[in-house]
Amino acid sequence: MEYLTFALAKGRLAEKAMDVLSKIGIDCEEMKENSRKLIFTNEDIKCRFFLAKAQDVPTYVEHGAADIGIVGLDTLLEEHKNLYQVMDLGFGKCRFAVAGKPEAADKLNSNNLRVATKYLNVAKHYYFNKKHQTVEFIKLNGSVELAPIVGLADVIVDIVETGSTLKANGLEVLEEVCPLSARLAVNRVSMKMKHDRITEIIKGLKEIEV
Ligand code: PRP
Repeated sequence: MEYLTFALAKGRLAEKAMDVLSKIGIDCEEMKENSRKLIFTNEDIKCRFFLAKAQDVPTYVEHGAADIGIVGLDTLLEEHKNLYQVMDLGFGKCRFAVAGKPEAADKLNSNNLRVATKYLNVAKHYYFNKKHQTVEFIKLNGSVELAPIVGLADVIVDIVETGSTLKANGLEVLEEVCPLSARLAVNRVSMKMKHDRITEIIKGLKEIEV
């Protein structure tokens, strides 16, 4: 039997993803050991697992280097790869929001708005296609909350989970963009070639309470 390969977004989602997969009999002892290995195998069930940076998970799945990816909808929306997004896994719930200092609320519909974000495609889609508003985008790679504090931008488009990062920095949600959660993504060819195994996994995941 060929291996079924899973790409998991590093961090909180990966841990939860392995918890959920173990409930349907897909687990990997090797992965629990603390090591510098990048890829882990369970020969008994012919599955391989690797952890990748969230942004890279859709790339591995699109090219078939992974049959299945578990990654946030935020990343899928931003990366926009050619793959099947088959299922909402129900965990990793958070949302995309526009946030800033309370006084930025007055500027939200202005065409001079400066928007900092890690999620440039998501932000462009929101302002151009949904709000029909011209704004200036500033691409950052992390700690985006800094931008409105130090005057780099008026607002940010970012993920809000508990809201504590915003609160700790005197910022607040000014507009909701969309809800987010972890998704199961499948390579288009794998869906045909490994159809039975993949549909069984989807069915199993739908049956358990995530
Ligand atoms: C994300 C996001 C916020 C934070 C939101 O950052 O960009 O900064 O989590 O979580 P909260 O609402 O529960 O405070 P992440 O930890 O992924 O790191 P980053 O700053 O490098 O993007």
